[in-house]
Amino acid sequence: MPRNKNCTACDLRKTCQYICLWGDGNHKAKVMVIGEAPGKDEDGCGKPFVGKAGRLLSSLLEDVGIKRDDVYITNSVKCRPPQNRTPTRKELLACRKYILEEIRTVRPRLIICVGGSAIKAVMNDYRLSVAKARTSKFKIFDAVVRTTFHPASVFRVPYNYKLMQEDLARYFGKSKPEVHELHRQVEMIKFSDLENQLKLFAKRGDVVIDIETNGLEPFKKD
Ligand code: URA
Repeated sequence: MPRNKNCTACDLRKTCQYICLWGDGNHKAKVMVIGEAPGKDEDGCGKPFVGKAGRLLSSLLEDVGIKRDDVYITNSVKCRPPQNRTPTRKELLACRKYILEEIRTVRPRLIICVGGSAIKAVMNDYRLSVAKARTSKFKIFDAVVRTTFHPASVFRVPYNYKLMQEDLARYFGKSKPEVHELHRQVEMIKFSDLENQLKLFAKRGDVVIDIETNGLEPFKKD
């Protein structure tokens, strides 16, 4: 399954370091995980999911008893988009032939799409989103295709960690995931950013807020 390092199917080759970053892992895997596109770490070393999101993904897979060495991991777009922006429809389409080639070669029984780009690309349906696809089962060649959130989304919406655990447990036929607590950094929020942060918190599910003072004058500006 050679990668096409001379690919000219879209313009991403002009800005990335590593052109056509191919999937990695067990080439006879029963499970294939498909992400969005390489990030900075991946582009630097030529391997998918080696950074922070990749480590989170490995730990989520472990929670349902799946070793990373037993899966084949790849991306729907093979070159890093500038500033990690979401790949365009044109870019997803340009890489689709590579994804299909990887699926045909590995012949997984189960494909887990992590994030909206992956499910759009695999099923060639740009109306699909994670929210829509999480409750559906698709098929491509001999594989069942399931969808969950992208692990990087957990850094913006920590509650997605729990939802991903539940999705993966369901897809791997486990009734209850062995829960690893997600250790998060405590964030300090500036008063001027409070309104924005509260809007983000509203999407996160359960949140505990500890308010600290930096003085005894309540109306003094920070
Ligand atoms: N995010 C992805 O979608 N893929 C990677 O390889 C790394 C981060």
